[in-house]
Amino acid sequence: MTPGIRQDGARVVPLRPLRHEEGAIRVDVRAKHFGRTQVLRDVHFSVSRGETVALLGPSGIGKSTLLRIVAGLDRDFDGSVQRPEEMAMVFQEPTLLPWRSALQNLLLVHPGLTPSEARAALDRVGLKGREDAFPRALSLGQQRRLALARAFAGRPRMLIMDEPFVSLDPRLANAMLSLAEDLIAEQRPATIFVTHARAEADRLASRVLELRGTPATLTPHPI
Ligand SMILES: Nc1ncnc2c1ncn2[C@@H]1O[C@H](COP(=O)(O)OP(=O)(O)O)[C@@H](O)[C@H]1O
Ligand SMILES: [Mg+2]
Repeated sequence: MTPGIRQDGARVVPLRPLRHEEGAIRVDVRAKHFGRTQVLRDVHFSVSRGETVALLGPSGIGKSTLLRIVAGLDRDFDGSVQRPEEMAMVFQEPTLLPWRSALQNLLLVHPGLTPSEARAALDRVGLKGREDAFPRALSLGQQRRLALARAFAGRPRMLIMDEPFVSLDPRLANAMLSLAEDLIAEQRPATIFVTHARAEADRLASRVLELRGTPATLTPHPI
């Protein structure tokens, strides 16, 4: 209901059934279609401040679609999403500018950082000495470390990660997972972590939500 003035002149104040917890995420997706195909139905969950929730499900089920909705990148759905304003995202692809150094890639997103803060942020993810390297000179693991540094340098209230550790060898994936675990513990954003690997979900998250079915919904239905 939108606030307004009724015909009899009384002010209409909308009822707020649920007070939104500050810094938390609340997702209510009744339906999401691509054309005539329904991909998601009745996906309702919330993530508290400082909580990490893993979103698990097989490839093609609708995990990235749901994340895009949660991030506000897709508004073409039936339902609503509430989230903090400051948000950081880590995708499968590190999405770096190839013609900028590691340090410049970080500063581009966080222009307010001093050079020593930016260097410290790179140091924190194990990129000391690689500040001036261009993305093509970095391994995939180093590129993903840079993506993590970029996500955490702004101390976001909310973090979204979409399969950030796929196609790394198990040892490296494990090291990256530990790094993300430590950064999350330090900063405690409300985190949604998408993965199709149960072990990753169990390790990083305090709660695991699973998408299943066509159209996909959460099972068991969590509140
Ligand atoms: N932009 C789009 N247009 C049409 N169909 C799409 C689009 N994006 C995703 N889909 C379809 O929606 C389903 C869910 O995709 P996605 O959310 O990427 O799955 P996941 O991330 O779980 O692998 C798939 O069947 C995919 O083909
Ligand atoms: Mg995906």
